[in-house]
Amino acid sequence: MKQTESDYIFVLTNPGSEKALKLEAENLKFGWRLSYQRRGFVTFKADKPFSLKSLAVDLGCARRLCLSLGKSQSREEAIQKLGDIKLIHHARFSDRKMQGIRGEGEIPEIGQIIGTVVELGPEEFWTGIHCHALLLSPDPAGDSGIEMPATSPSRAWLKLEEATRFFDLKFTSKDIVVELGCAPGGVVLALLERGVSVIGVDPAKMAPVVMEFAITERDQATDKCPWFFHSRKPAALTSKRDLGHGVTWFMSDMNQSPEVVLKECARFCKMAPSIRGVLITLKLTDLLQVAEKSQWYAVLTAMGFQTVRLQQLSVHHKEFALLGLNRK
Ligand SMILES: C[S@@+](CC[C@H](N)C(=O)[O-])C[C@H]1O[C@@H](n2cnc3c(N)ncnc32)[C@H](O)[C@@H]1O
Repeated sequence: MKQTESDYIFVLTNPGSEKALKLEAENLKFGWRLSYQRRGFVTFKADKPFSLKSLAVDLGCARRLCLSLGKSQSREEAIQKLGDIKLIHHARFSDRKMQGIRGEGEIPEIGQIIGTVVELGPEEFWTGIHCHALLLSPDPAGDSGIEMPATSPSRAWLKLEEATRFFDLKFTSKDIVVELGCAPGGVVLALLERGVSVIGVDPAKMAPVVMEFAITERDQATDKCPWFFHSRKPAALTSKRDLGHGVTWFMSDMNQSPEVVLKECARFCKMAPSIRGVLITLKLTDLLQVAEKSQWYAVLTAMGFQTVRLQQLSVHHKEFALLGLNRK
């Protein structure tokens, strides 16, 4: 496969996010123009050909961004366009979702070229290529395919698991996460299962499966991990004392506006300078609010986070994951 330039790129997105994606693309000010669109699939062209490097852009609505090698009538024809590329991911629009098709041995390495074949209809297949990089999903169409265990008290379990996989986040048993909006406890359960201790902040009740790990006072926490401490009050009433020492991650899943969540994030990061990572589920009333992302980035940057990213996950609807890493 020699082609590393194309007049077109295509983007896989959550069906229903096409308008927000186009707004984000317009805000890049690269002169990209809409070329073709289907549910969950948008192609752009520009004045100059795109290269693999042109794909290194920040588009929160893009679950995958590829140089387009064009349309085919069959899967075989679409695969042929990839020549000797070893790693090929398959995706399809089905059941009103942009789904990844699972296969064996598909985990890419950083820098590896990945071919993507997308099936949009019985005789509509698209072929693309991109280069795997940090903070890009390793999964076909950014769809982790992770299934939620029956024990999880909420779907939020999936959000934590998919974000962890998408961003390749590393947690250890030394980590302590504070999660605002933790009830009934899907995220907490996912973290506890990973051996990570959690301080959960929420006036609402937690599920029994999580309370099995509960300590009643923050200072009861020992090195025997993992534990869960429920600060059963609104975020604004949580103090330094509730947090104790050693919090390493800030997370929020509160159903509050981005402004409220980020204000609390700034307050918590000030109370706990040991926080090294932030993972927030931002709930938008309108997906077009994605255009405000530079304001959200500015808040995290001011807190010292050098890597910031807004990303839609396949398990999201009107939500985005906002990530902050590498705190100065
Ligand atoms: C989507 S649910 C969270 C789901 C949860 N993360 C899980 O894993 O199951 C949103 C939660 O935010 C909580 N919440 C809303 N405003 C809050 C506030 N100001 N402080 C703390 N929790 C809040 C609600 O009580 C609700 O339980």
